[in-house]
Order: sequence, then C-alpha cells, then structure tokens
Amino acid sequence: MDARTAKREAARAALEYVEPGMRLGIGSGTTAEEFVRLLAGCVSEGLRIIGVPTSERTAALCRETGVPLSDLDETPQLDLAVDGADEIDPHLSLIKGGGGALLREKIVAAAASRMIVIADASKLVEVLGRFPLPIEVNRFGLGATRLAIGKVAGALGLSGPLTLRMTSGQPFVTDGGHFIVDASFGRIPDTRALSNALFAIPGVVEHGLFLGMADTAIIAGTDGVRTLHAIG
Ligand code: A5P
Repeated sequence: MDARTAKREAARAALEYVEPGMRLGIGSGTTAEEFVRLLAGCVSEGLRIIGVPTSERTAALCRETGVPLSDLDETPQLDLAVDGADEIDPHLSLIKGGGGALLREKIVAAAASRMIVIADASKLVEVLGRFPLPIEVNRFGLGATRLAIGKVAGALGLSGPLTLRMTSGQPFVTDGGHFIVDASFGRIPDTRALSNALFAIPGVVEHGLFLGMADTAIIAGTDGVRTLHAIG
C-alpha cells in the first residue's frame, strides 16, 4: 500500500465513527484532506453533520467539496475531532504541526469529546522527537523566545537546532499570524516536562506536543488498517 492509499484507508476507517448530527472537528494535512473528500461524499449522499475546520486550507477544501462548516463561536462543543499527526507514540501522544496548523488543531481537539488520529504506519514511533517539534511563537521578541526555548530544553537535557520555518524565502506565518520554530531535539523522553517548560515562556503561543488528547489511532500500512487505543 503506498502512502497516499494508506492515508485514504485510515481516513475511510475513521468515517465509521461519524454519526448523523455530529459536530466534527476537521483536521489539517494530507491525511485529513483524504478524510474531507470521503466525508464530502457521505454528505452528498445525505449525511447531516457540521464541521469545524482547523485551518484556512481545510476550510477552503470543505467549501469546495460541500462539507457544511461552523466555527467554535457558533459551535463551541464538538463530538469528535479527526486529524492527522506527524508522530504517534504508544501512549497516543503526538507531534503535530508539520503543516503549521497546530494552534487551531489543538483548540479544536480540546473542544471535542474525543479525538481520533488517522495516519499511515510511517508515523508510529516508540519515543517522540524524530520529527522536529513545531513551536508556534509570537513574532515579537523572536530572538529572546528562541533563546529561552534553548535554555529550557537544555535544562531537560535536550539540544539541537531551533530553525525558524521559512517559505519562499520568508518566515512562514500561521493562520493566527505567528511564526514557527522547528526544534530538532531528537528523542524527547519526558514530553510533559518539555510541554510545561515551553508553556512557561511568554513568547511561546503553542507547541506541537498533543499529550493525552487522542484516545484512538487508526493506522494503515502494508498489514492493513489497525485501530490502536491509548495505553496507560
Ligand atoms: C498540520 O499542522 C499537522 O499537524 C498535520 O496533522 C500533520 O502534519 C500530518 O500531516 P500529513 O497528514 O500531511 O502527514
């Protein structure tokens, strides 16, 4: 199974959790886009749901394919969020934000009663950190914030390049108007400690560690589609 097919099969399996009348958080990234396209097919056949998108890009795809949309002001409580991930560990802790939508993704997931993550098998890891951790930062004080990130990471025994994400020669700007620093720490043994330390830095808006948020992962690979549940 190639990666695109795996993403589509994971997305297809997630549709089984979608019930008529649900308020759905809809993720961002290539796997979530497969979910949107399949969901749109169900909507065109009469499924009644309302979606809250996690990025402008996802919102545009939903409009294009006919998935009805709301927002968290009108619909502050969601039944289910379905989203992709950059890494997934055995506890279903995640690294997200490779596409830059981590802030809205986390706000939407937190507003949902449950979060299901969909991915191809390449996203599974024993310990998070192979994928650089996206950290969304305020544009003001970037240098000081980056220095502070390095210091708190160092205190936890973590080090590595802290790279300002660029696109077309300019800093990448998130939907919320912030920058992203990608932190290449390598393995992060204590994700909770790093999360707390990052949140203590005023210039950090959000980070891509999603801890204790997903209860189910649907993983597609050469051995088919597997459903994983968070362990202790
Ligand atoms: C978007 O900001 C991310 O959190 C995505 O969910 C993540 O990068 C997974 O994307 P793919 O499904 O494209 O791998």
